[in-house]
Amino acid sequence: MKMKRRGFMGMLAGAALPMRTEAARAPRHLKIQDVQVVVTNPERSAMGNFVLVKVVTSESGLYGWGDATCTGSELAVARFIEAHMRPALIGRDPMRIEDIWQTLFLLPYYRSGSVHMSALSGIDMALWDIKGKVAGLPVYELLGGRARSKLLTYTSVSGRDFQEAGEAAQRARERGYKVLKVQVRAPGMESGYAVPPSERQREATEKAHQAGVPPSELWEPAGYVRMLPKLFEYMRQKLGDEVELIHDVHERITPSQALWLAKALEPYNLFFLEDPVRPEHLDTFRLIRQQAATPLAMGEVWTGQWEGLFLITEHLIDYVRHDLCHCGGITIGKKIAAIAEPYGILTAWHGPSNISPVAQMANCHVSLSVANFGIQECRTNWPEAAREVFSTAPSYSDGYVNIGDEPGLGIDVNEKAAAKYPYLARHRPTIRRADDSAWAY
Ligand code: CO
Repeated sequence: MKMKRRGFMGMLAGAALPMRTEAARAPRHLKIQDVQVVVTNPERSAMGNFVLVKVVTSESGLYGWGDATCTGSELAVARFIEAHMRPALIGRDPMRIEDIWQTLFLLPYYRSGSVHMSALSGIDMALWDIKGKVAGLPVYELLGGRARSKLLTYTSVSGRDFQEAGEAAQRARERGYKVLKVQVRAPGMESGYAVPPSERQREATEKAHQAGVPPSELWEPAGYVRMLPKLFEYMRQKLGDEVELIHDVHERITPSQALWLAKALEPYNLFFLEDPVRPEHLDTFRLIRQQAATPLAMGEVWTGQWEGLFLITEHLIDYVRHDLCHCGGITIGKKIAAIAEPYGILTAWHGPSNISPVAQMANCHVSLSVANFGIQECRTNWPEAAREVFSTAPSYSDGYVNIGDEPGLGIDVNEKAAAKYPYLARHRPTIRRADDSAWAY
């Protein structure tokens, strides 16, 4: 897009104002006309409910899409946007992203938390989408432009035992992956985080879903913690030293177990150890840091730039893993990256399959533009129904993901298709110890 510059001589001669393109003039008159929420579950899966936000402007055909998905609270977020945010947005100038962000953040007196911040994140993404469309530029251009041509990514490989996980790892290596997240079911457990459940667990889970109640899973952390060094010894023997390996604890162990584990995994040179403790136990990072060299990653459950801030400013972690669907959107992702940059802490935005391709695109726009990018988790194996609903998703090639150069976020939602796959009531499992006490997921 070119704009004629109003030259000095032109001004002296009282020349007419330079011609302005439609796109360049649009921001002055733009108003938010409507905010609509679409909840859809194309995959019909327990973790597959997406909460999409459409911000519609006063200019015909100009709208933005955002992702406000908050798994486990989907309907609360949808209602929050409709009942509490929509009235505060109608009539506002969608180009004023920072102003709207601050306005919506301060809107409820009892602010922050996953419902409020997921709603705000979705609106924020939609506003960046609109701004990009107005400018005729992809969002990453508005954030400073590409700092790299493609994004290093990883995939999860898992199994019921070491051998099964090892074979999955080799298949992923053949598909070009340079970084693998490895998860294995612990001895004596029927399930675990990101591992295939036993047949008995699968049946019990399905029964609970049919009854409309949360399924229950048994979890004892000690055997799992003892198993992990053996798993990574096996993986190094099988795969060699060239491949990068990640493990996600998913907050399921005690602080002292996390400390022991970070030390015990040192010989296997992990890319990072993810979520080693619960977000309630962040002080543990000081203990781990004093004693272990294993790189640490944390952040996917944080709902804003203030949570976990001292882990950055005291350099207690190596990767920030905020979820742009929960932490406040593109606006906050860019700010967190900037806070982390002088410490040499890298980004690894949360990109699991339970956030939609809209958020996956938003992740990539920020990741492409920041100096301190580390890696981008990204789902790439979307089922046919999801492809019917979403016009695109980040593309995978040889260990990297990438996005195109369409204006805005570069993704559209087929609302007719989305309506074919409505909300599906499926409750997350409760995790119980052997004595039937509650435990972190
Ligand atoms: Co995680």
